Amino acid sequence: MLMCHCTGATDRAVRNAIRNGAATTDDVRQACGAGGRCGGCRPAIESMIDGESVRRHAANNAVNMTSGSNDS
Ligand code: FES
Repeated sequence: MLMCHCTGATDRAVRNAIRNGAATTDDVRQACGAGGRCGGCRPAIESMIDGESVRRHAANNAVNMTSGSNDS
């Protein structure tokens, strides 16, 4: 799905940028160009950064819970 109409960057490109370490809209812009022109897509990029952060924390908690149960 097209996420940035100015650059043609897709949601997949933005998600990949975030999963590869982009933590701010500037990081995403540098990684794939999204958000680098009019800025209209930046709120959506910020939402995706927040969503990926929540997903990462949930995954880490699941791993910690699993490893905790293996320790006993
Ligand atoms: S829609 Fe992304 S910079 Fe304009």
